Amino acid sequence: MGNENHDQQYLKKLPSYYNQQTHTQTQKHKLKSLMLIIFTNLVTIYIFTGPFSFMYKYSSMSTSDSSSILQELNSTKAQLAASHTILSELHQRLNSTNLLVQALLIDLTREQEKQSNRVDESPVIIKLGNNDSTTASPTISDELGVALGPHKLPFGFSPKIGAGEIHMPVGEACLKFHEDLKQYMTYEIGGECPVDDVLAQGLILKGCEPLPRRRCHPKSPINYVEPTPFPDSLWTTPPDTSIIWDSYACKSYQCLVDRKNEPGNSYDCKGCFDLEKEEKIKWIFDDGGLDFGIDQVLATKAAGTIRIGLDIGGGTGTFAARMKERNVTIITSTLNLDGPFNNMVASRGLIPMYISISQRFPFFENTLDIVHSMDIIGNWMPDTMLEFVLYDIYRVLRPGGLLWLDHFFCFGSQLNKTYVPMFDQVGFNKLRWHVEMKLDPGVRKNVWYISALMEKPMI
Ligand SMILES: *[C@@H]1O[C@H](CO)[C@@H](O)[C@H](O)[C@H]1NC(C)=O
Ligand SMILES: *[C@@H]1O[C@H](CO)[C@@H](O)[C@H](O)[C@H]1NC(C)=O
Ligand SMILES: *[C@@H]1O[C@H](CO)[C@@H](O)[C@H](O)[C@H]1NC(C)=O
Ligand SMILES: *[C@@H]1O[C@H](CO)[C@@H](O)[C@H](O)[C@H]1NC(C)=O
Ligand SMILES: *[C@@H]1O[C@H](CO)[C@@H](O)[C@H](O)[C@H]1NC(C)=O
Repeated sequence: MGNENHDQQYLKKLPSYYNQQTHTQTQKHKLKSLMLIIFTNLVTIYIFTGPFSFMYKYSSMSTSDSSSILQELNSTKAQLAASHTILSELHQRLNSTNLLVQALLIDLTREQEKQSNRVDESPVIIKLGNNDSTTASPTISDELGVALGPHKLPFGFSPKIGAGEIHMPVGEACLKFHEDLKQYMTYEIGGECPVDDVLAQGLILKGCEPLPRRRCHPKSPINYVEPTPFPDSLWTTPPDTSIIWDSYACKSYQCLVDRKNEPGNSYDCKGCFDLEKEEKIKWIFDDGGLDFGIDQVLATKAAGTIRIGLDIGGGTGTFAARMKERNVTIITSTLNLDGPFNNMVASRGLIPMYISISQRFPFFENTLDIVHSMDIIGNWMPDTMLEFVLYDIYRVLRPGGLLWLDHFFCFGSQLNKTYVPMFDQVGFNKLRWHVEMKLDPGVRKNVWYISALMEKPMI
């Protein structure tokens, strides 16, 4: 900043300096001619008066001449001196600018060193002010603080990022459950992570999502075997040795399969691990009622235009498997609610995504061809939350993209009062719409179901 000022002053000075110089040069030139004249005169005088009269003759004859010469000499000398002064002044300015830049650089380096020391060495104290007990402001130190940053960029401010440091993302709700979070971040750096999926998932379910990263290795399954080759992997129950079972009540896939015979709805997706029974027939037939068939849904669009999508809460990935058989790539979001759902999806050669329904979908606007969700979205969700979910689905769907709402459940009283207006408000067109009441012998009674195929308008 100082430099610019100096530069400008320097530039302003420059023309006058050059003028002076040219002026000086003309003066020098004049001086030379004058000397020549003087010399010629002197020779002439010498020739005509002789050596003895020289001193006298010269001084008497050209007093006025010599004084004007001297004056000119004098002024030339003065101008030369002035030029010299300007030159040295400029030199001094340059020197001081240089010094200023050097001083600034030293300051900057010191500052950077100080801050990187602060981040890397001194214990980081992060205030988590969101706990309502404002009297004692809780602090978190050590690994959590290190994980969260801010992390100084090694090359300073990045115009691309728009900052000189990066803060690691964690869910806002993490700050509300800092005791659990602190426990989650307690481990030996570089060692084996504790088997704490339940703790981690508990945090995610409460909205602490994403979790901070950790510097430890997850426990690795012993006797891990290579996955079953595709496409057989789609319908093969993976080996038990692919799983760390510590966190689950079941300790084998067979146990998970047998779970479907237990009464009630105590387990999520309790039939999902049996790839032979219900899973095998899902979405194959279209009953014209609540159960739509995949082929019938795909047929609502030009062949091959439904290529990529998301299955929200997709259990063990059977929807994605059926779509894969039709060359459609589906990402299955699922949690590991007392079962290795994510591992199962991956073992089948499909893409699991470990995020809850609360998190903003990690896709850009107008990108997906289809979003499907079965038995997940329903009246267990607060209305406002559901509204945000629906708008987010609308956001990631491309124009003409499909939302297949599969068995959305609620009470009859909510149907026309709350949900139908909500779907309309978000702005989907209805391609298919089926409402049916089911007498559920289990926990839910007089549950109304909606199966709907909705389209994001082209506009
Ligand atoms: C030469 O210049 C100096 C100061 O600039 C002045 O004092 C002196 O009288 C001048 N000499 C003549 C011969 O003009
Ligand atoms: C400028 O700096 C150089 C070395 O840094 C020094 O030798 C010189 O005398 C300085 N000039 C002025 C005009 O301060
Ligand atoms: C705040 O933190 C304290 C200490 O961990 C905890 O006991 C309390 O329940 C927290 N309050 C809220 C509102 O989260
Ligand atoms: C899927 O893609 C493969 C390779 O392009 C092709 O051979 C196959 O017929 C496609 N299957 C379906 C059901 O479209
Ligand atoms: C909802 O509204 C539709 C059309 O207005 C009506 O046919 C249906 O019976 C209503 N359903 C319920 C559960 O009230």
